[in-house]
Amino acid sequence: MSKEAVSRPSRIDQFFVGPGARGDRWRNLVELAEAWSCGSGSRTEFEAALVDIIATEEFHAYPGFKLLTVLGDHVAEDDARATSSLARRITRTILTRSFRQNSGDWETRDEGDSVAADVLPPALGRADTHRPYFEVLIVTGAPATRWPTLATEWRRLRRALDAFVYEPVFVGSFEDAFCATLLNPDFAAVVIHEGFAFRSRHDAPILRTLTEAMDQPESAEASALRLAQVIRRVRPELDLYLVANGRVEDIAGDSQANAVRRVFYAVEELLELHLAIIEGVQDRYDTPFFNNLKKYAQRPIVTFHALPIARGKSIFKSDWIRDMAEFYGPTLFLAESSATTGGLDSLLEPTGNIKKAQEMAARAFGADHVFFVTNGTSTSNKMAVQALLAPCDIAIVDRNCHKSHHYGMVLAGAQPLYVEAFPMTEYSMYGAVPLRTIKQALLNLKADSRLDRVKMVDLTNCTFDGHIYNTRRVMEECLAIKPDLIFLWDEAWFGFARFSPFFRPRTAMGAANDIEAWLSDPKSVAEYEKQQAELGVNPSDDMLLGTRLIPDPRKVKLRVYQTNSTHKSMSALRQGSMLLVKDVEFHSVEAQFREAVFTHASTSPNQQLIASLDVARRQMELEGYGLVHNAIEIALSIRQAIGAHPLISKYFHILGADKMVPAPYRESGFIDYLDSKTNWAVALRSMREDEFCLDPTRMTLVCGTAGFDGTQFKGILANDYNIQLNKTSRNSVLLQSNINNTRSDVAQLIRVLVQISTEIEQRLAQGGPNIRQAFDARVKSLMTDVPDLPNFSHFHDAFRKDAGGRTNEGDIRGGFYMAYDAAGCEYIRLADPEIDRRLHDGPDLVSANFVIPYPPGFPIMVPGQVITQETIHFMRKLDVKEIHGYDAAEGLKLVRADVLARRAGAPAKRAA
Ligand SMILES: Cc1ncc(COP(=O)(O)O)c(C=O)c1O
Repeated sequence: MSKEAVSRPSRIDQFFVGPGARGDRWRNLVELAEAWSCGSGSRTEFEAALVDIIATEEFHAYPGFKLLTVLGDHVAEDDARATSSLARRITRTILTRSFRQNSGDWETRDEGDSVAADVLPPALGRADTHRPYFEVLIVTGAPATRWPTLATEWRRLRRALDAFVYEPVFVGSFEDAFCATLLNPDFAAVVIHEGFAFRSRHDAPILRTLTEAMDQPESAEASALRLAQVIRRVRPELDLYLVANGRVEDIAGDSQANAVRRVFYAVEELLELHLAIIEGVQDRYDTPFFNNLKKYAQRPIVTFHALPIARGKSIFKSDWIRDMAEFYGPTLFLAESSATTGGLDSLLEPTGNIKKAQEMAARAFGADHVFFVTNGTSTSNKMAVQALLAPCDIAIVDRNCHKSHHYGMVLAGAQPLYVEAFPMTEYSMYGAVPLRTIKQALLNLKADSRLDRVKMVDLTNCTFDGHIYNTRRVMEECLAIKPDLIFLWDEAWFGFARFSPFFRPRTAMGAANDIEAWLSDPKSVAEYEKQQAELGVNPSDDMLLGTRLIPDPRKVKLRVYQTNSTHKSMSALRQGSMLLVKDVEFHSVEAQFREAVFTHASTSPNQQLIASLDVARRQMELEGYGLVHNAIEIALSIRQAIGAHPLISKYFHILGADKMVPAPYRESGFIDYLDSKTNWAVALRSMREDEFCLDPTRMTLVCGTAGFDGTQFKGILANDYNIQLNKTSRNSVLLQSNINNTRSDVAQLIRVLVQISTEIEQRLAQGGPNIRQAFDARVKSLMTDVPDLPNFSHFHDAFRKDAGGRTNEGDIRGGFYMAYDAAGCEYIRLADPEIDRRLHDGPDLVSANFVIPYPPGFPIMVPGQVITQETIHFMRKLDVKEIHGYDAAEGLKLVRADVLARRAGAPAKRAA
């Protein structure tokens, strides 16, 4: 290589993006090689790009040292053709990932040439069985010149019996190990040999900010245990092995060694380590329920129970429904069963492989217990609410949460104390609930001497539109006011977040684990006492609201629940959901949970759904890290492509973090993922510090500026272009990327947006001034004439007889059952002037049921709620067709004033 290229310091840290970017960089290298080859480019340009790429390629097994050396040799020999041919081959292999199974891809010479035996992973390419492939990171103090020999030694350990095949990847420092762990999603295990350096061989200022942000400043001591702790925080799913030189017993006994799966003594047999690695991966690969279901489906079973579809005979033999068998194939029917024994298990009382599968899911998601749920998170939420709340308990609930929580409160007879999210009126949507609002509600309850009645804080993380709470801060500050509060985090959309180090601390379980670690740290009591001394006796509400409160670690009872729609973000079939538990008091509510399962779970749960939950867990533990990063990368490329396209950006834009999260909640000053100053260190600071941050995979695409309302635009994308999406607002649609998306999906979306923008452009250019005026008027109506979002008003006094003076909780269940008494209800149409008269002169208009317009999808009225002018105004301006709980022909369903008066006079009922 030329001196110039070699002397440029290589950077390894500006590429904290997913696997697609790696492919792009290789493609770019091929283009440079081809340009050099045909004379339109130069060798220097190619070399510079190669130096850049090599720095990070060292963290991947493929192409590996030998192929990269050959590539470098071709360059040194000034052979542009050979260089471009090899670069093309490597690039193709990386993009198709064929090296995982095809030994030919590792060859250093082109087809037909002989192959150096030690270069090849000998067990790859066996055509008989498909063996999953992974990579193992080996952190070592051995000089880099020895790594190829060491790699050969590792490969010699492979046996035909191994269920998996892996390739070793070597690094020599703490920083490189950290960086490799972030960059290479194929790692399934890490072997850390004692005695390596701290500093990377490469130039990495952003990496340094990241390691410092992980509280790992540079120091002389690059301890293996410390590295294990850091890797554990970044990727807890990886198996870590430590190879100690001496003092092996001391290391194994150190509390920090909890992060490590096994400690080996350096001079011992390498084969043991190899077997441990395979066994560790097998532990994650195992899917106890799915495995048994597969076995069950292969058995010749005669059934005399009520599930004719099982075994499929009624279908295969039918002239009329055989197409169903052809469509699904026989396995589905062989795997259908109503049995709970004979290799299967009961979801309602699991004792066998479902129990085991749930325990494995608990491990994967960082919980103590997991319940598999086969009726969606709608059911998980109702189960949690029912199990944890009793009649008249108060729960602080985001009014904007999914309806399952509201219905859960009705079923439990608990009293919701609604708190409001910050409004995003311009886009007709809500954000998330500010912590100050939640603390104020708790302080009000305290002032009313009613803190004992509040049992739960129930919030949605992240929201549909992507607002992520600072879960740790919310829980800590609330626990500082009431140390035994239960938290129910609805993470319907956020289950995948567990598998990204950037999101994990902001998940319910991630935060709960961090709080747990803090509680057991002896420093925590001192921190608490210091703050108490600063706050003094009887601090004012203002002071408490303005302080980041620290709970008393001696009093805290950590009780955290999370629900997630596994089917929304992982590879589970629709309705597959999980309820995660991390609750030190779980033993006291376990029986209630069993009741909740009996209440809500079907006695005929679907086997395929349960199996898919088991398999989704396996996938996330083994490749979730890479998949989530792919989803983030796809989202960033959509954001980038739409923002940068001159025509699309004229009519459409995606809201950045600065638009989605008001400045007071973005303490770090983070602007957006597309801001020119943003890198991963900046994004990480936002994730750590901000009250709310934005999940980049949830993209609010404003379409009002193109003259479309959300519902209309969603329809156009679905009907005319086969692009499906879920949520809309008055002037936007929500795009979301997930673990399933590919770059081709991005290309299709961009192509379609170009086409739609071109059509608008042509229509406006050719249509004359009237068309332009009509377009401008439509945009104005969608973007500026937006109705104010109505806050929750209050429950009618008839439902607040045991409520406090300062808080707005109410008996929603009482209100709900009023609607069952037809004679006690009345209907008034929205346009009827009687509504305005009653608003002005009374008596109060009180809703008899939930009214939930889609969009925005939150209840603008709940049973027992007094309807205000703002709500009526909003309803009258609403132009959506789907409003649950409201029939325009009949009008609003209200509880009659005389019935309310009678109820208001009756004495309040309290729970026993
Ligand atoms: C925040 C939230 N929670 C729960 C649910 C219900 O989940 P599922 O569809 O799995 O029943 C939804 C559905 O959209 C949701 O948005």
